Amino acid sequence: MTRRCYILKINITKTHKSRIDETEFENLGFGEVFSDHMFSMDYRNGEWTSAQIIPFGNIEILPSLCSLHYGQVVFEGLKAFRTKNGICLFRPEKYHERLNRSCLRLCIPEIDYEIFIEGLTELLKLDKNWIPEIKGHSLYIRPFIFATDSFLGVKISKTYRFMIITSPVGAYYREGFNPIRLKTSGKYARAVEGGLGASKTPANYAASLLPAEEAKKNGFSQVLWLDGFEKKYIEESGAMNVFFLMDDELVTPSLDSSILEGVTRNTVIHIAREWGMDVHERRISIDEVLLAASEGRLKEVFGTGTAAVISPIGEIQHNDILITINGGKIGMLSKKLYDEITGIQHGEKDDEFGWCHLIR
Ligand code: COI
Repeated sequence: MTRRCYILKINITKTHKSRIDETEFENLGFGEVFSDHMFSMDYRNGEWTSAQIIPFGNIEILPSLCSLHYGQVVFEGLKAFRTKNGICLFRPEKYHERLNRSCLRLCIPEIDYEIFIEGLTELLKLDKNWIPEIKGHSLYIRPFIFATDSFLGVKISKTYRFMIITSPVGAYYREGFNPIRLKTSGKYARAVEGGLGASKTPANYAASLLPAEEAKKNGFSQVLWLDGFEKKYIEESGAMNVFFLMDDELVTPSLDSSILEGVTRNTVIHIAREWGMDVHERRISIDEVLLAASEGRLKEVFGTGTAAVISPIGEIQHNDILITINGGKIGMLSKKLYDEITGIQHGEKDDEFGWCHLIR
């Protein structure tokens, strides 16, 4: 079947057998189950072409595929929610902008918003029953682009594939909304100024695996990353940006080329400012946080991310100092922000910023 869209012609092949009845929606982890269909499009001869939606399944690649060897890959992660007004796709234009920024850094051809949104819309319409109904659960959407030339020299590929897969998800962390424990690393760096840190590309996540594993062995959920140069300024944590409530000031590290510009980070800044809070994006050192904790001024710390939404942080270890925040309990601001964001996403609260892109 061929369906004409706004500008995009998408060939759609539906699955013969949906897997939805075998899916336990009550026991969703994160990113372990995939919906019935996926979107795919190729870049060749200087243009994006051959848009199609096909059953989710294996793809054929050559072992000499250049992105397997040199990592010319970018990805995104956004979410769709079931609401009384239709499907809420949360802030797709922000994710699209970031995808294209990552593309530029990785020498990958950009994707037009129309392609991105049309591909997503058709995919979501087809797999709408995969969007979980439980509050706080969602359909996680993973667009990604990888280089597809076959060669072993280090150079920019001429061909690419853009794909979108989707996965019904529950909480990202095993702890759910319970506070997590973080640890700084004196040994490792996630990214450095001028590197890939601001791009959503697998290399950053690969760099975090060993340090995260070591942190986990010591009873921590993730690493709290410090800058790679002085190991002094806080950058981000795991798959999240971080916020500190010190007295009445809400601070998050200012963006530079080693920090990912989180969409949930931006959402929190907007909401907190709308609530009249004093919000600053500035450099913040680990010493400043430890001092605020010792003076009783550190009220709350939380992480933000599309997957995690808001994740309260209950403890931070730096060298031989361990601080406990808010008695290790969920803070009032973290809870209020979580309720506000998920309320907007599920269509229960006013979407005054116009963040829900509705698909009916
Ligand atoms: C997201 O929050 O979307 C992320 O990118 C986290 C992901 C790596 C699981």
